[in-house]
Amino acid sequence: MIQIILVLLLAYLLGSIPSGLIIGKVFYKTDIREHGSGNLGGTNTFRTLGVKAGIAVTLADILKGTLAAYLPVLFGIDINPLLAGVFAVIGHTYPIFAGFRGGKAVATSGGVLLFCAPLMFLMIFLVFFASLYFTKYVSLSSMIAGVFAVIYACIDGDIPLLIAVTLLASFVIYRHRANIRRIMNKTEPKIKWL
Ligand code: G3P
Repeated sequence: MIQIILVLLLAYLLGSIPSGLIIGKVFYKTDIREHGSGNLGGTNTFRTLGVKAGIAVTLADILKGTLAAYLPVLFGIDINPLLAGVFAVIGHTYPIFAGFRGGKAVATSGGVLLFCAPLMFLMIFLVFFASLYFTKYVSLSSMIAGVFAVIYACIDGDIPLLIAVTLLASFVIYRHRANIRRIMNKTEPKIKWL
């Protein structure tokens, strides 16, 4: 039992590593939470610091989820990797290393699914970019990808996957409350490069 708690704690701490804050402060002397949407995630890094930083933060955030899901396998702990992944997403969203002001759960959730359900990850990735192409909203596309993930898991019929994905997608939508308001007010920024 103690080993399970330690692995989940480690997953939370891994998720808590604030990639956006580290890359922003170390390489650009900028706290991205003071710019754009104020979110500590890849999209706001793209918006505030440009493509290179945006890609680096997005990949780092994905990697956190993937590594966290791998932890139970690495330590030979008999729990579903999805559980460790969920703890990493909580860490990413409420990071102990960044005053509990983190991201919106998208990239790190993707990283968890990349490890636990790679085909599903690929499908979600395609749905996300198709939605981005048509709507130009990253936030809306993130939420659409989340809803698609739940539908996919329903069809797949894997109950732990369905529970985890439902939790993660609800979390993603909850964290996008301000974006939803901005989309309704037509003040949400659209991307210009696709
Ligand atoms: O992954 C977060 C994205 O969906 C929205 O980010 O900065 O536009 O609120 P942002």
